[in-house]
Amino acid sequence: MNNFSYHNPTNIVFGKDTISNLPNLIPSDKKIMMIYGGGSIKKNGVYEQVKTALNGRNIIEFSGIEPNPLYETCMEAVKQIKAEKVDFLLPVGGGSVIDGTKFIAAAACYQDGDPWDILTKGGNIIKTALPLGTVLTLPATGTEMNGNSVISRKSSDEKLAFYSPLVYPVFSILDPETIYSLPKNQLRNGIVDAFVHVMEQYATYSVESPLQDRQAEAIVNTLVEVSQRVVTQNNDYQACASFMWSATQALNGLINCGVVQDWATHMIGHELTAFFGLAHAESLAVVMPSLWKHQFDNKQGKLAQLAERVWGINVGSDHAKAEAAIDSTIEFFHSIGMPTSLKDYNVSETDIVKVVDRFEERQTVLGEHSNITYKEVEEILKGCL
Ligand code: NZQ
Ligand code: ZN
Repeated sequence: MNNFSYHNPTNIVFGKDTISNLPNLIPSDKKIMMIYGGGSIKKNGVYEQVKTALNGRNIIEFSGIEPNPLYETCMEAVKQIKAEKVDFLLPVGGGSVIDGTKFIAAAACYQDGDPWDILTKGGNIIKTALPLGTVLTLPATGTEMNGNSVISRKSSDEKLAFYSPLVYPVFSILDPETIYSLPKNQLRNGIVDAFVHVMEQYATYSVESPLQDRQAEAIVNTLVEVSQRVVTQNNDYQACASFMWSATQALNGLINCGVVQDWATHMIGHELTAFFGLAHAESLAVVMPSLWKHQFDNKQGKLAQLAERVWGINVGSDHAKAEAAIDSTIEFFHSIGMPTSLKDYNVSETDIVKVVDRFEERQTVLGEHSNITYKEVEEILKGCL
């Protein structure tokens, strides 16, 4: 096992009717900005629950954070925050609303130049950020319990991430009933995003971390176990609760303690979103199987373990089991309605040149062995067609 440091400051408040706890979680002297997206919270009653809980508090609203939140929109919120002296942010929504708010929290306090630097230079340049607490309505990203944020910039077709310990939510409210209103494709996206988060921290090579391996396997086993009950949209509370908690656990820093991580699937996927508009999880489902095939020799050991412990495949050589793990993962994605080919999105071989060129320009090197350059990205993307 490798050395690690682990600290997660987010207070999780989980379960039915927990939005009513908001007044106890936000100090009463704060001027709050409630931040949300395109209006789903007005249709499913979450908006009303938040407003009722915070009745009498000093609260203003900012709406219109889009899926794959835009820098341009976030900067509008920053202007309003400065003008109105807001000192607490309350994102209510999915990963995009929460990620957008994390960037807003940092940008509102950034005085050393253009806040876009936070994305290009990294979260280390942030010295302070406004506090935020979240109400999550879409299990997928894990952003409700981590310090990551992913922001897109319309003017340059870019999608970049930053990490800072200063943007962990102070608290996150997770009420599984808020996800009953999610359409089937968002539920499927959430399951796949969480599944791939675990794999980015698992399907690398062993450094003898049996506890972390089993924690990772427990999360994907749970996701697989509840997935059909979740996507059939029967308002199944127990299935939704397990899905929601699994997605949080998949990216809250616990399972990456002391292990080797990859994240190449995410880095390539972000470009597919930036250029061709695939939803985040759609991009991952396309890239990961092809990347696993391309990096087969390096990942064979962990993929064989995945075959045994998640897909129940106990016969054959490690090579055969690892191949079966890839096939079973693709079948699982299909079973919840998730496509796995770029053809499904009408992206052609000539289109992928854009992505390859961008990796060449940036001289990006990906993968747990730092062996994926733009040339390998091209091969991986051709494997997605
Ligand atoms: O905008 P509204 O009207 O709220 O509608 C949203 C949006 O259209 C809707 N929605 C959310 N909750 C709902 C609901 N509709 C009905 N009922 C509800 N309860 O769902 C749509 C998609 O929402 P979005 O927030 O975009 O989805 P998700 O949570 O998957 O977030 C995706 C973003 O997170 C980033 C992705 O790159 C992408 O930008 N990620 C963030 C990570 C992190 N911070 O750690 C890690 C991830 O790997 C990922 O990169
Ligand atoms: Zn993701």
